[in-house]
Amino acid sequence: MSLQLKLIGFPIQHSLSPWIHQSFLERTGIEGAYTLHEIAPEDSFSEQIESLRASDIDGFNVTVPYKQKIIPFLDQLDITAELMGAVNTVVVEDGKWIGYNTDGTGYVQALLGKYPELAEKKHASILLLGAGGAARGIFHGLLREGYNKVTLANRTTAKGQAITEGTQASVITLDRAEESVGEYDVVIQTSSVGMNTEKQIIDLQNLTEGTIVSDIVYQPLETNFLKQAAEKGGRLHYGHTMLLYQAQKAFEIWSKKEVNIKGMDEALIIQLRGGR
Ligand code: ATR
Repeated sequence: MSLQLKLIGFPIQHSLSPWIHQSFLERTGIEGAYTLHEIAPEDSFSEQIESLRASDIDGFNVTVPYKQKIIPFLDQLDITAELMGAVNTVVVEDGKWIGYNTDGTGYVQALLGKYPELAEKKHASILLLGAGGAARGIFHGLLREGYNKVTLANRTTAKGQAITEGTQASVITLDRAEESVGEYDVVIQTSSVGMNTEKQIIDLQNLTEGTIVSDIVYQPLETNFLKQAAEKGGRLHYGHTMLLYQAQKAFEIWSKKEVNIKGMDEALIIQLRGGR
């Protein structure tokens, strides 16, 4: 078996996906390559996609800002991708392009990988902060895994309602989240707030000791949000593991083989620190 894989998005020059998937190819003994196909905003998206179609590929990942834009070019959508209205993985099967979304389930697997006891606690009360694309994926990932006590907090509550529509989840303001953060078992920061800044989406002064606090931002790995969570006795979950697990799910869709990610968490941290 040989797999020719790509990543489309912009900007992607610093993406860690080639490193991750190259490791997966080696680990599974499959030949092939995972390369970048950057599509700049000024490029014609449809022309770029047609050139991709003309190349001999087995699948590709889609990242920001094309996770929605790719949908009209696909022949079929998996149910999760349809629910999320976004695609991060495309597999080519008999010439057909089929879209999946492994972000949400990848995130939940990453969280359960770190805190396996959560698998038995489907009634855990979970606070999601943010209502962007990542929040949508994680929200549906949690629901799919059977977690039904989810509250979403966002600066713009209408955006939160657009995500939770048709479910039992409630939507609150960030001020309310800050006040009530002590009432949750798990707090998940899904927005880009904290990426390369010291900003925090909410203050964690009221956090209860022992709460699991997760931040999907991994640049820096130790966001101020997680630092404050640690000071308050929270149990931490770092964002880079989401990257690893969503990639694992994507690779399994392409290769139809299981890939063992043991040891890759630590190796990824070294990559994030610039290979040192
Ligand atoms: P996406 O996940 O779609 O790529 P993102 O930029 O990573 O988007 O994250 C968007 C989320 O970050 C939104 O929840 C946004 O809040 P709004 O819906 O109110 O815009 C949130 N966000 C971004 N900057 C913020 C800030 N300064 N304070 C609070 N929330 C912020």
